[in-house]
Amino acid sequence: MCGIVGYVGKRSAQDVLLDGLEKLEYRGYDSAGVALAQEGGIRVVKSKGRLDVLRQKLAVQALAESSCGIGHTRWATHGEPSDVNSHPHSTPRVSIVHNGIIENYGALKERLAARGYTFESETDTEVLVKLIDSCYHGEPLQALHEALGMVRGSYALAVLFKDFPDTIFAVKKESPLIVGWGEGENFVASDIPALLKYTRDYSVLEEGDLAVVTAQGIRFYNAFGEPVERQRLTADWDQEAAEKGGYPHFMLKEINEQPAAITATVSPRVEDGMPDLRIPELTDERLRSIRTVHLVACGTAMHAGMVGKAAIETLARVPAEVDIASEFRYRDPILNKDDLVIIISQSGETSDTLAALKLAKSRGVPVLAIVNVVGSSIARAADYILYTYAGPEIAVASTKAYVVQMCVLYLFALRLAYARGELEKAETKRLTAELLRAGEVIKPRLDDCEQIKYLASRFVNTQSCFFIGRGFDYALSLEGSLKLKEISYVHSDAYAAGELKHGTISLITDGVPVIALATQKKVYEKTISNAKETKSRGARVILFTTKDAVVPEGVADYIVRLDEYEDLLMPLQLIVPLQLFAYYMAVLRGCDVDKPRNLAKSVTVE
Ligand code: G6P
Repeated sequence: MCGIVGYVGKRSAQDVLLDGLEKLEYRGYDSAGVALAQEGGIRVVKSKGRLDVLRQKLAVQALAESSCGIGHTRWATHGEPSDVNSHPHSTPRVSIVHNGIIENYGALKERLAARGYTFESETDTEVLVKLIDSCYHGEPLQALHEALGMVRGSYALAVLFKDFPDTIFAVKKESPLIVGWGEGENFVASDIPALLKYTRDYSVLEEGDLAVVTAQGIRFYNAFGEPVERQRLTADWDQEAAEKGGYPHFMLKEINEQPAAITATVSPRVEDGMPDLRIPELTDERLRSIRTVHLVACGTAMHAGMVGKAAIETLARVPAEVDIASEFRYRDPILNKDDLVIIISQSGETSDTLAALKLAKSRGVPVLAIVNVVGSSIARAADYILYTYAGPEIAVASTKAYVVQMCVLYLFALRLAYARGELEKAETKRLTAELLRAGEVIKPRLDDCEQIKYLASRFVNTQSCFFIGRGFDYALSLEGSLKLKEISYVHSDAYAAGELKHGTISLITDGVPVIALATQKKVYEKTISNAKETKSRGARVILFTTKDAVVPEGVADYIVRLDEYEDLLMPLQLIVPLQLFAYYMAVLRGCDVDKPRNLAKSVTVE
């Protein structure tokens, strides 16, 4: 939620900031703005709408050159998207960009108003900049320390002081913030993709850290104001990974990157044909002692958790619970010391997921994190980490990150099952080999997407549709339905196929699309019956099943066939046509595929 960038060095700050903001637009796109340090003061240009609107505004302004500045792309929390609510927020002496929420801004605003400050926006950030201004007497560090001491809430901030035109002050509490190391230039950003064009070297700010960033170097201070060192990391993502590379959308590119992401994630974790988590503390003995596994996440990552639950329970016979992080954190969950909490997150920064992790730790329960972003807050707070190697995911709708989250959960389930004696070595090896070839299995689904395009063209004017399935197919129904609604704005619901007749079937009338997923042999006939029930009530049914499955007459209007594959691993193959269906529906409906309305990729506020 909200992306911030900062640059100081020898280049045009405006160009570097716009580049960085483009890479961070996935964090919000309600408005964008920059503040540039120039002779005589700080110049702010900002605008409601996408980054292109800001670009156009800057193009006609002919600003004096500046090599130090800060920028922001906004996902509105306080105050509607508008020019005046856009960041940066400023006083004549200070300018700031902010990602987070200042909870006590109402009380602070009253105090500042009593001191003569006036306010033009509805934002908490304007209160914060005026608070910093009120504490400023020529010493930026002191002003920030004093002002932030009065603030309750979360923030990643980049701050410019008029009197220090060659310095950016960066502060972090609960919202993510990194600094990038260049040669004679340095950077501030919410996330790594914003830096990749210029540098791959970065450091992550820790809770309460303040960084003083100049062209010559970066100094860090901890929450007590003491100078500290922060580890320098190198991102192994390259710049191309954060570009569209000839695809019309990041989403399509990322769907097509899934085979490579699967191989990159699974193959380093297979040793002599056996799954090897490569976490020294998670020995087979330790795995044997786990009583319950709790999988906690948000959105698509939570849907990966549902597949994980099914795999863990089916293979290892260990009870597994799936929780939405925002529910888990407030429902006083029952946790035991011999449970394991698995936190799943692409960004590693989702605020509710991070809070769930902290809750589990505070109860003394070990936490394993499945994360895509190295050094992210969740990765740093967890006891054990299994990184997914999807590379940067830019499209707001998650695709490749989901697939590799499932892969890691399969590896975990297989090792757990073997460690507990539920799976023989030979069977563990066989299933691991099947998982290893998942990348190959899904390639034909990417190559022959003509049928899916055709189906999208047939259903493009749909107002509402239903996904049904059982077991793994139910978990996939939820994800297929989420993909469709989030990017194409078609209302869609997912149901366990057997549950449909307990109410929802009343919504099935002539022509209503039903997407029936029937890839699981054990419950195949049951799902077919459910599809038939909807067909008899007028539904237009698209059935997703396997090549050899016998489909009775009159069950489906359209059949999408998948290759035969292990039932357990079928989600890895089935998700591809579901992602493509959502994608082509969104394209045909003229939607902004990569940046669906109102959404943000990294949800760093509650
Ligand atoms: C947002 C994104 C989703 C994502 C979810 C969890 O809602 O739009 O695509 O699945 O957050 O994000 P995380 O980074 O924790 O996986």
